Amino acid sequence: MKEVGKIWMNGKLVPFKDAKVHVLTHALHYSTSIFEGIRCYDTPSGSAIFRLPEHVDRLFKSAKLYSMKMQFSKKIISDAIVKTVQAGGLKESYIRPLAYYGYGTMGLTPTTNKVDVSISCWEWKMGESKAGKFSGAKCKVSSWTKIDSRSQPMQAKAASNYANAALARMEALENGYDEAIMLNYHGKVAEGSAENIFVIKDDIIQTPPLSAGGLEGITRDSIIRIIEKNGGFVIEQDLDRDDLYNADEIFMTGTAAEIKSVTQIDKVKIGSGKMGSITKALQKSFTDVVMGKDERFLPWLTFI
Ligand SMILES: Cc1ncc(COP(=O)(O)O)c(C=O)c1O
Repeated sequence: MKEVGKIWMNGKLVPFKDAKVHVLTHALHYSTSIFEGIRCYDTPSGSAIFRLPEHVDRLFKSAKLYSMKMQFSKKIISDAIVKTVQAGGLKESYIRPLAYYGYGTMGLTPTTNKVDVSISCWEWKMGESKAGKFSGAKCKVSSWTKIDSRSQPMQAKAASNYANAALARMEALENGYDEAIMLNYHGKVAEGSAENIFVIKDDIIQTPPLSAGGLEGITRDSIIRIIEKNGGFVIEQDLDRDDLYNADEIFMTGTAAEIKSVTQIDKVKIGSGKMGSITKALQKSFTDVVMGKDERFLPWLTFI
């Protein structure tokens, strides 16, 4: 990672290399942190953050689910995100706001510690989200079951959810796949390890309901709204593993992944085994939206 720009820590912009925490930080031991992943795009009209208010809302919703007392308002955090991006001087970046129980008391109870907040921003690199963007991702249905809200609040974008996701991702990679697909305890499709999932059969676009255990993805919401604005619709319904194998097209959505095509699941080819025409069209629509080329969605961009 290139150490450029500044990191916002509890109200101050500090040099990238100085943004350090104590080894006895509560969250390091007990996974008591929540975070966001946001993109800033280099549009023809200047750099713009995609759906900033929605990401800040989700950060605060996650904090609430972990009883975190945020010492900063949504307005302060939104302004701080913009300031951090400006301080970085990057046209295109990935932004990571993080709130965590900090250093103070050691022991399981987190609430005796202050909630620290940081906002980092780094150069956007396609990296691990590349698979599926141009050709098609090969996915493995994970042997790990997606944890659900009987165990912890899954609508929080919390670090503690990601051990489960990381195990699934590692298993997929170790077996020669690009990404994992996770089923829930009922055997229904939940989501990818860090993306929501959509399945197309006979031109009908379907996605699992949030009750299946996936995160309430902002890209998921964006693509549903884009489809609806263009006169189409998406059906939210539980999907079985069979629905994956039988699909004509499958794509995944996420801030990093954007719209990525899935062309193989386990050893089964999806549709023609190539990126499908609906997925391709949606990729184009989404790119137009994030690049500010679709006027109907300009309010989703915060120009910096
Ligand atoms: C588990 C999980 N599901 C879905 C998503 C997609 O969410 P979003 O579109 O808000 O990035 C993410 C990415 O943050 C994720 O980590």
